[in-house]
Amino acid sequence: MIKKCLFPAAGYGTRFLPATKSMPKEMMPVVNKPLIEYGVEEAINAGMESMCIVTGRGKHTLMDHFDKNYELEHHIEGTNKEELLVDIRNIIDSANFTYIRQQEMKGLGHAILTGRELVGDEPFAVVLADDLCVNIGGDGVLDQMVNLYKQFRCSIVAVQEVPKEDVHKYGVIAGESIRDDLLLINDMVEKPAPGAEPSNLAIIGRYILTPDIFELIESTEPGKGGEIQITDALLQQAQKGCVIAYKFKGERFDCGSVEGYLDATNFCFQNLYLKDDQAELKQKRTEKFSSIALEPV
Ligand code: UTP
Repeated sequence: MIKKCLFPAAGYGTRFLPATKSMPKEMMPVVNKPLIEYGVEEAINAGMESMCIVTGRGKHTLMDHFDKNYELEHHIEGTNKEELLVDIRNIIDSANFTYIRQQEMKGLGHAILTGRELVGDEPFAVVLADDLCVNIGGDGVLDQMVNLYKQFRCSIVAVQEVPKEDVHKYGVIAGESIRDDLLLINDMVEKPAPGAEPSNLAIIGRYILTPDIFELIESTEPGKGGEIQITDALLQQAQKGCVIAYKFKGERFDCGSVEGYLDATNFCFQNLYLKDDQAELKQKRTEKFSSIALEPV
């Protein structure tokens, strides 16, 4: 039903400088896989086929990653290293990739509008690859959201309760509860000033959007930070029709911050990278980390 997934990936990634000075934030590896590959896997597992990537200057490695590298592949052919490329080969075979450049970084709303040429006139998903979402043993977050879309047929944003001191970093929603895990949004504020937060429910980097959002973004004036904010366009959509906030199942790591990135790396190493038959190594690492945490800094 939802076949296209848009990846706005043109941002500067300033919170992660100097690593992101010449390397796209989306290409930073969590264990041995770049962030964007986790996002693409999540989209494929939710039934999507077209990955539409909004890039910017200095982001060409994103394109190279989702392409063949004949020289390297020939070099490791017949060795045990070949298995390290199995996942990315499957991705390249099962999805198509299109790219468009955002010439000026005018904000997330503007990046999504830039992707209109690739998405066309149909509902689509949006993944911010620096928000890494993992639901061990269950459906991925996008998959959960696609199932909701089948029922509600309107835009859906993934939300998460965040500590009070972090609320100002996010787009924050308020709404009427329609199920334990669902709210019908009636207010949204981008990066609210202290005291102006409508709740502690923050929008994270997973969206399903209906295509009328493009016209709403077009008529959205620059907001917080002088950027065209998707939150402002979504508020208009919520006021005219319906936007749902979904408290998703799973873990989410803000890999745009150093702390979130470290947490994601440890979590993925333990839960995704190490195989079940490496239980002993898992145990050792758990002990190692708990002893490090106990040492005074
Ligand atoms: P962020 O604000 O998290 O990303 O934008 P950033 O600007 O790259 O990071 P910092 O804050 O400077 O560290 C959320 C998402 O929107 C994309 C980013 O690439 C990121 O995936 N984005 C943001 C764009 O594609 N274009 C923009 O103009 C702004």
